[in-house]
Amino acid sequence: MILVSAFTEELDAATRAAIIEICVAAHQEEDFRNLFAYVSSGGWHFLAWSGEQLLSHALVTTRWLQPEGHQLLKTAYVDAVASLPAGQGRGFGSAVLRYLADQVAQDYDIACLETERTAFYERLGWERWRGPLAGRSDQGLIPTPEQSGIMILRLPQTPVIDLTTLLTIECQPGRIW
Ligand SMILES: CC(C)(COP(=O)(O)OP(=O)(O)OC[C@H]1O[C@@H](n2cnc3c(N)ncnc32)[C@H](O)[C@@H]1OP(=O)(O)O)[C@@H](O)C(=O)NCCC(=O)NCCS
Repeated sequence: MILVSAFTEELDAATRAAIIEICVAAHQEEDFRNLFAYVSSGGWHFLAWSGEQLLSHALVTTRWLQPEGHQLLKTAYVDAVASLPAGQGRGFGSAVLRYLADQVAQDYDIACLETERTAFYERLGWERWRGPLAGRSDQGLIPTPEQSGIMILRLPQTPVIDLTTLLTIECQPGRIW
């Protein structure tokens, strides 16, 4: 297995197709076919390969978390985590996420993601946010009490934060978390 990272702009058509296929297959979610419309540039992709075969993928985009009482934190927001179904449970996803954490440590203040597989991420050092959550919009805060599975990963530059306080994130078109 080889681990590499690349920015969205650097991905050739075959790699883009492989990323889409692995996300659709792992998540059973056709909307991943629009991944490169949602993230046309500025993404940072983390890939595990075995020869020509893509085994696992994760995507980082830059977002801005703000735990109550703190400044905005430059956040490595992780999406599109997916391992080839036939290769799951063999450590590829864990390897990609450890590699990702190592690579973003210098440029980012914290990492964040939303998942239903909290135990998988907890084993890799991620922590569940336990306090209230909200989006920051031009109209003010939009509480998201129905949102679950928000996790953070502390990086070397993460300030001392209390996971039971209010956590906000900038609203994006069509989504908050
Ligand atoms: C979640 C996902 C990315 C994990 O990828 P993966 O390549 O299977 O990850 P790993 O193999 O590193 O770990 C998976 C499990 O296998 C276990 N495992 C890892 N290496 C192992 C090994 N060599 N032997 C036995 N078990 C192993 C891990 O402990 C882990 O257990 P857990 O799920 O109970 O935490 C993958 O299952 C996936 O694509 N799922 C579908 C989409 C999804 O749920 N995405 C995440 C939500 S955001």
